[in-house]
Amino acid sequence: MSVALAEGNLLDVVDYRGGFRGPDGEVTEVLAGVSFGLRRSTLTAVVGETGSGKSLTALSVLGVQPRGFVRTGGRMLFDGEDLFAGGPRSFERVRGNRISLVFQDARAALNPVFTVGHQLIDVCRAHRRLGRKEAEQVVLDMLERVRIPDPLRRMRQYPHEFSGGMAQRVMLAMALVSEPELLVLDEPTTGLDVTIQADIMDLLVELISSSGLTACLITHDLGVVAQTCQDVVVMRSGTVREIATCEELFTAPRDEYTRDLLAASRLVEAR
Ligand SMILES: Nc1ncnc2c1ncn2[C@@H]1O[C@H](COP(=O)(O)OP(=O)(O)O)[C@@H](O)[C@H]1O
Ligand SMILES: [Mg+2]
Repeated sequence: MSVALAEGNLLDVVDYRGGFRGPDGEVTEVLAGVSFGLRRSTLTAVVGETGSGKSLTALSVLGVQPRGFVRTGGRMLFDGEDLFAGGPRSFERVRGNRISLVFQDARAALNPVFTVGHQLIDVCRAHRRLGRKEAEQVVLDMLERVRIPDPLRRMRQYPHEFSGGMAQRVMLAMALVSEPELLVLDEPTTGLDVTIQADIMDLLVELISSSGLTACLITHDLGVVAQTCQDVVVMRSGTVREIATCEELFTAPRDEYTRDLLAASRLVEAR
């Protein structure tokens, strides 16, 4: 599927292809030409069944593809710059700085031997020229923004003292403390209790709308998509099957596979 490059997107993924090398040395493509764009200050959902290539695409935006992944083609244009053309340096410059990633298992991403405050301050100082005291204040403010109660006390605690939902808020704070332009979230609430999922999604939507952030939310929850996202990308088998506004997708899906997804989620009847 080809997609015209829209003027002014923050990110354009263009015919991105790649896969894993088998024992015979041949690369089996699992991403078979992925193309989509992210409009600025917009929340875009990427949906599709397990194994459709959502996470590989997200990791590629950060330049952190898993070991063994081979890119066989395509471009990744961030704010007009082709990240692959500039080599690993281009990704290093934007990663964690202009682009942040939040993924599913928050506690696995935190270091168990340092306090949460210590880790947040480190990340903050790695990306912004701030003294320790200033960084502490920025972190404290950020923990308040992600609605962690009693943030000063929480900063002195270790990751194991946080529940799954609270740890995910810490990850969100960590992703935002560098003031990124693009936030990529890969199933950020999967595995959390439903009410906690809803709280975190509310928070995300508020943060995105109040900060002008561009965000890409990978999720299999079409209910969340319907409530929160402006644009939707539907993936299947390493390709993009449909790109639509949320409104279009739920009222007039064009692709047969999208219609199946909607029917399976029973959201069509619910609306
Ligand atoms: N490290 C890996 N080694 C081999 N194959 C992988 C690896 N990671 C992902 N894949 C394959 O790539 C495809 C896409 O995976 P992924 O992007 O994780 O899908 P999704 O996030 O949509 O569930 C899957 O078929 C998966 O089996
Ligand atoms: Mg995934």
